[in-house]
Amino acid sequence: MTHSAETNRTNLPSWKALSALAESMKNQHMNDLFAMDAQRFDKFSINLPNILFDYSKNLIDDSVMAELLQLTKDVDLADWRDKMFNAERINLTENRAVLHTALRNRKQKQILFDGENVAEQVEQALAHMETFVNQVRQGQWKGYSGKRITDIVNIGVGGSNLGPQMVTEALKHYSDQSVNVHYVSNVDGAQITEVLAPLNPEKVLFIVSSKTFTTTETMTNANTATQWLLKSANDKSAIANHFVAVSANIKNATEFGIHPDNIFSMWDWVGGRFSLWSAIGLPIALDLGFDKFIELLDGANDIDEHFQHAPMTENVPVLMALLSLWNCTFLGFKSQAILPYDQTLHMLSAYLQQAEMESNGKSVTWNGEKTGYATVPSIWGELGINGQHAFYQYLHQSNNIVPADFIGSVESVTPVAGHHETLMSNFFAQTQALMTGVNEQQVRADLKAKGRVPEVIDKLAPHKVHEGNRPTNTLLLTRINPKTLGQLIALYEHKIFAQGILLQICSFDQWGVELGKGLAADIEKELLSDEVLPQHDSSTTNLIKFYKSVKQQ
Ligand code: F6P
Repeated sequence: MTHSAETNRTNLPSWKALSALAESMKNQHMNDLFAMDAQRFDKFSINLPNILFDYSKNLIDDSVMAELLQLTKDVDLADWRDKMFNAERINLTENRAVLHTALRNRKQKQILFDGENVAEQVEQALAHMETFVNQVRQGQWKGYSGKRITDIVNIGVGGSNLGPQMVTEALKHYSDQSVNVHYVSNVDGAQITEVLAPLNPEKVLFIVSSKTFTTTETMTNANTATQWLLKSANDKSAIANHFVAVSANIKNATEFGIHPDNIFSMWDWVGGRFSLWSAIGLPIALDLGFDKFIELLDGANDIDEHFQHAPMTENVPVLMALLSLWNCTFLGFKSQAILPYDQTLHMLSAYLQQAEMESNGKSVTWNGEKTGYATVPSIWGELGINGQHAFYQYLHQSNNIVPADFIGSVESVTPVAGHHETLMSNFFAQTQALMTGVNEQQVRADLKAKGRVPEVIDKLAPHKVHEGNRPTNTLLLTRINPKTLGQLIALYEHKIFAQGILLQICSFDQWGVELGKGLAADIEKELLSDEVLPQHDSSTTNLIKFYKSVKQQ
């Protein structure tokens, strides 16, 4: 499906201008850009409620920003954004609407899709969740032997795991521990064994979380969980007390044995990686209570409003997308680090890996042509302090430049005397160091001041030079809480949407995960039989043969 007024991105005047600007910008140093412009921070930072976004430490100037903003017009970004909010089928390859924003439509604005008001469906689903969450947390929901539920085990993978688990970890401080929440995502039996070992089946509730209810890994774990329960309950009717499902596939979930009343809705207009706001977020609501889950939705809704109404020049997700495009596609920096300086965000980079890489890790335009330009960087990261003592050497001095997002909080949720200032001094120091660097002259002067002899200075100087000029964004939150976390996640979600439009790629499918899934299904049959099929390449055949021969011994 094509969009009428479309041109290949590379033919747009703004795209061409940006390509030319990138060539000259490569010879600029940010130190000079700061020196030339006393207003740089004011110009290139946005103060949202609860979040300060500083993008001044990027290799940009007024002319780059003007062309990037012109590009948003040339690609009709605002139109596409409105189409998303208005339930048009912008998931072109799957012919679906993209409506995760409807899940946090807190003013319950009417959203018509296929003749139905989605807002009403969402409110009904939230009411279903609320009743269930209260029943479990207040101990009215009983296990097969009449005991209250103490432990929730969420079985799901990808979007049915990463979002809820990342949020549960980030908001641990806000849990009243009415229940303990655990996650099983890996089909490696080690994980489910470890999670279930200390638990009492009489008091465990499983959430089988799978939009499709066909994902092999999740179904395998769900079957193992059923066997574990039945070993103790000895009665299949116990499944109804101990299993609920979140799925768009009611048929499969019912066939699995889950009572239809205990199947929570999902819709095909919610992508898995954008689904934590739906019933996929049940473990979050069970852990924190429904009110706090709503605060999370409220935070995301605030950013939805910002994304829809803020001018492009002040629109944080749009700016984030433009900077990523500038860094990756135009300047050629093909990797990006996510560096939280808040312990609560320790799963953020894993979450964003799926959100961004599964959405935009593609190389074909929505017209089916090769893009011919780099699309999105590979995303990776780790808690900042741990990273500093592991891979920051590479960030500071390797010849591969890795732009980074630094994310920190003014207040810690668990203050311990003397810790937060040490943490945050590193947070501020690192973006400064990555930007300013230290040149040879300064290195030599420093070594001399320390009394080093000329031969030692000559030897050490080249190793101690930091070229700097490494782009970073800073997102400084007031404090992590359900609302600010909702804001933060929604900023990245809309960044990813805007990136997709700028790059002219379909952000809401994931065909690239299918090939491996299909091959694995065939290979599993081989692993379970005596056969090794001839169709593999010699490497794969011999790996399988080796595996089977060792296994038989
Ligand atoms: O294989 C990738 C994927 O489809 C993701 O997009 C999705 O989040 C994950 O698997 C889990 O899918 P489901 O919720 O259908 O089990």
